[in-house]
Amino acid sequence: MPSIAVVGMQWGDEGKGKVVDLLSEQALHIVRAQGGNNAGHTIVAKGVEYRFHLIPSGIISPHTKCYIGGGTVIDPKSFLEELSALTAHGIHFEERLFLSRYAHVVLPYHRLLDQLSEKAKGSAAVGTTGRGIGPCYADKTQRHGIRITDLCHPASFRHQLERLLPAKNEQLHHLGAPALALSEIYEEYAGYAESLKSYVAPVEELLYAAAKKGENILFEGAQGALLDITFGTYPFVTSSCTLAGGVCSGAGVGPSRINQTIGVAKAYTTRVGNGPFPTELTEEELACFPGHGAAREIGTTTGRKRRIGWLDTFLLRHTCALNGVDALAITKLDILDSLDSIKICTGYENTRSFPARIEELKGAKPFYETLPGWRRSTTGIESYKDLPPQAKAYVRRIEELCETPIGIISVGPEREKTLWLDRFF
Ligand code: GDP
Ligand code: IMO
Ligand code: MG
Repeated sequence: MPSIAVVGMQWGDEGKGKVVDLLSEQALHIVRAQGGNNAGHTIVAKGVEYRFHLIPSGIISPHTKCYIGGGTVIDPKSFLEELSALTAHGIHFEERLFLSRYAHVVLPYHRLLDQLSEKAKGSAAVGTTGRGIGPCYADKTQRHGIRITDLCHPASFRHQLERLLPAKNEQLHHLGAPALALSEIYEEYAGYAESLKSYVAPVEELLYAAAKKGENILFEGAQGALLDITFGTYPFVTSSCTLAGGVCSGAGVGPSRINQTIGVAKAYTTRVGNGPFPTELTEEELACFPGHGAAREIGTTTGRKRRIGWLDTFLLRHTCALNGVDALAITKLDILDSLDSIKICTGYENTRSFPARIEELKGAKPFYETLPGWRRSTTGIESYKDLPPQAKAYVRRIEELCETPIGIISVGPEREKTLWLDRFF
């Protein structure tokens, strides 16, 4: 199988970064196709913790080439800061990192508009990451965006800013913020363009050539299926297509180039930000779970505590279908190690289809099955056969309920804390 898409099956933070890092040992090319620095992927490799936002997690493996596709939105400052942080870890980028000319640029007014409009929404706020992602994608679809290719041509960049900034300043004024000065944005961003232009490349052509040669390509999803702009829990979603289908339009590759889709799901559920969450734990149940710090359930991007809930297989069946998932990677099984019993949601009362209407989802009453816990540490276990029988029963029940085989089980943040049921590449 020369090319695999790795996508999130819940509301993000499923452990996609870890799975991509593992698979990138066998892949030559790693591609991010959508989203921006709203993503946060944490990887622990050889005792070092890396945090990624825009750069594909596969960059840790020195043999890989990494690509940021045309469907992404790039905050140049954040991109350059991420490069510096990774350089400090000894990672090099020359001839290994390629940024599409078609990606859109996140500008200061996008960030401000995101933060101010969230504030203005009060209790109806989405709980965005405040990185300007929504306003940037909105400009793209309204054909008011500035792309990397434009940013890298000073005259064109200046001309577009002159055309667009007055309307942006008007919007800022309505939200009570002072106007932004064109010359300041221009100077600052022209400087970023100088620093990032060596990475700008015809990504789509490079990927086409790699696919023709039959080289292994790994597509790294960001966010999760229920944050998808169309099929997610709208309006509590992000602004890009987070599904396997979005990989094609975001990377500029044809659907025939993706041979397999791996859906990453936690052994329970989390969500950060607002919006309905039918299986969210009660206070009492939460007290039985490891704390947010120990469970690594504090957001990589914004430092917010993630909301925690039981595994929802009604939701997973829906997102397996939306993504055409071939195999699941179940992460963070070890976080359930100390529980006496574990609940799995198998459906919601009075509906056979996953609700589209937000009010319906808010009022959803889950049906649960309760399985016995294993009350033993799984984190040192090296092969599936050594898992406690109750843990095996739990993962097999997930397979049954989702009608999808499990290929990877993760029992700790580190690379080696992985049980392989399928080797994929
Ligand atoms: P992503 O956005 O999908 O890549 O996920 P994040 O990196 O934002 O969040 C997952 C968090 O859980 C990170 O801190 C990972 O290091 C950690 N993690 C991943 N897999 C496991 C696992 O199997 N067990 C534990 N305990 N932590 C894990
Ligand atoms: P990774 O790739 C979890 C959430 C935000 C908010 C909503 C909209 O690490 O899984 P946005 O800033 O995108 O407009 O916010 O989407 N969100 C994420 N939640 N993981 C992410 O990325 C997320 N990216 C966005 O919390 O609810
Ligand atoms: Mg994350």
